[in-house]
Amino acid sequence: MSEQKPRRRSMVGWYDPRVLAHSGYQVAIANVFGRHSDTRLIEALASQPQNEFDYSATQGPGDFWFDYASDIGDGWNSTFAIADAIAQPTLDLKSGDSVEQTRAGKLLVFGGDEVYPYPSRSEYVVRTETPYKLAFAGRTHPDVFAIPGNHDWYDSLVAFSRIFCRPERGFAGCATRQTRSYFALKLPANWWLLAIDLQLGADLDEPQVQYFQKVASRMDSAAQLIFCVPEPRWILEDAYPRHASYEEQSSTLFLEEEVFKRKARVFLTGDLHFYKRHENAEGVQKITAGGGGAFLHPTHAPATKLLRNGFEQRAVYPDEKTSRRLTWRNFLFPFLNPKAGWLYAFLYAMSAWLASASLEASDVIDLPTALSAAINAAIRDPLNGMWLVTIVAGFIFFTDTHIRSWRVAGGACHALLHLAAAFMVGWWALLVTVRGFDLYYGSMVQLLLSGLITVVLGAIVGPFILGFYLFVSIRIFGRHSTEAFSSLRIQDFKQWLRLRIDAAGTLTIYSIGIDRVPRRWRTTIRGGEETAVADDRRASVPRLVDKVELRG
Ligand SMILES: [Fe+2]
Repeated sequence: MSEQKPRRRSMVGWYDPRVLAHSGYQVAIANVFGRHSDTRLIEALASQPQNEFDYSATQGPGDFWFDYASDIGDGWNSTFAIADAIAQPTLDLKSGDSVEQTRAGKLLVFGGDEVYPYPSRSEYVVRTETPYKLAFAGRTHPDVFAIPGNHDWYDSLVAFSRIFCRPERGFAGCATRQTRSYFALKLPANWWLLAIDLQLGADLDEPQVQYFQKVASRMDSAAQLIFCVPEPRWILEDAYPRHASYEEQSSTLFLEEEVFKRKARVFLTGDLHFYKRHENAEGVQKITAGGGGAFLHPTHAPATKLLRNGFEQRAVYPDEKTSRRLTWRNFLFPFLNPKAGWLYAFLYAMSAWLASASLEASDVIDLPTALSAAINAAIRDPLNGMWLVTIVAGFIFFTDTHIRSWRVAGGACHALLHLAAAFMVGWWALLVTVRGFDLYYGSMVQLLLSGLITVVLGAIVGPFILGFYLFVSIRIFGRHSTEAFSSLRIQDFKQWLRLRIDAAGTLTIYSIGIDRVPRRWRTTIRGGEETAVADDRRASVPRLVDKVELRG
């Protein structure tokens, strides 16, 4: 019996009304209840015994290699392209005139957001585990560790803990060892990787503090720390100072000062789906590397060249010019997000219906008369008025939340633009059916036909206006960085980190990027196991994006 072929998913359509509704529901539940009601699972997880995992003796004669990828389980093309590159036994990277030779890691650390759009066991299996299983088929399997990001937390960690915290299960044929959602790795040359779980921006829980205290008690004074955290708080607090929660910053500060009694030399994170490396005068590295599969975030907005905490941007991928150029794709919004049309078809049809309810046949012909009749209806009819208020409030709610004035002004303008467009579409539909088709105004056929025209035009015009609004927001005001790029569903410019500890104790961090991931794949057999290989001549090979060395 032939095995069922793995389903190759496309990138998540964030503007698909079903995804929007389900994501909104899960985020609301997680934010309202999740922060307080996860104690049963967390206590169960915290009661699992776990020490640090010791890889310090596995160095052998050569260097010790490990990989770090974050924000991974999205579309097949991007997720598998990264998984396949990680799994290659050796990878030569062109760097100017020379070639950097790298090796597959003994460890693979996932930095958060292991699945999109929301966690469930089946989504983890299809979007994340299957690509990695096929990538490692017939190749050496690393040990896998993971911390959860916000998307893993939306079901209070139920699916994440079953996938990554059950060593008897493993992941994609790789061994997993952690039994909690946080862990410590003792690496060669006295480097320690400490992976921290901060739930949905919450503070450290007591069992986690106790765990890291126990780990700290086994470190000597020369130990050097690498922190893995779920978010680049150093970027977020800089970009959105009035609204930032300082929990992560204060949590890592607490760990540095009260638990480990030393400063971390490297911070690794994802959450923002690009690569940026910041460095301060002491040479501390803060690295955001969220390019493991999910849609690309813009690198040009918000600006992060010099952060207020003194950290300077040393490397970025993709470059800001490319990022700025990609914003133009928002004019293709209706084609990139076809399912968004359903939502706008409904909004436009309802708006036009309510606006035209009190129109007389004689009002239809003349635009100013029709407009004044619609405004009259909006003021005098409570249902009509409530609908308009709800629409404006809804758009203000959707607007980038980090600056209140922009939220109200931008949201209200955006809503009024749609309402004006809905009126024009509805009015034109009436005009065409009454004047063009000569149908009797108010007849069933005329109403149905004008309704159909409004629905079809609404499904095209509404998403186009949203794309225009997102373009203006990101391009001119630098707002809506997530919404104006999740709309583009860009699967290219993917990236991960490869790290090496050499015999002298020097830690080298390679950032490796793939400019264009393959679109076509061929199923094949490697080492007796099914896998896939790229079959796309336009795809890019992995290349070195950045490299930094920290002496031990
Ligand atoms: Fe993410």
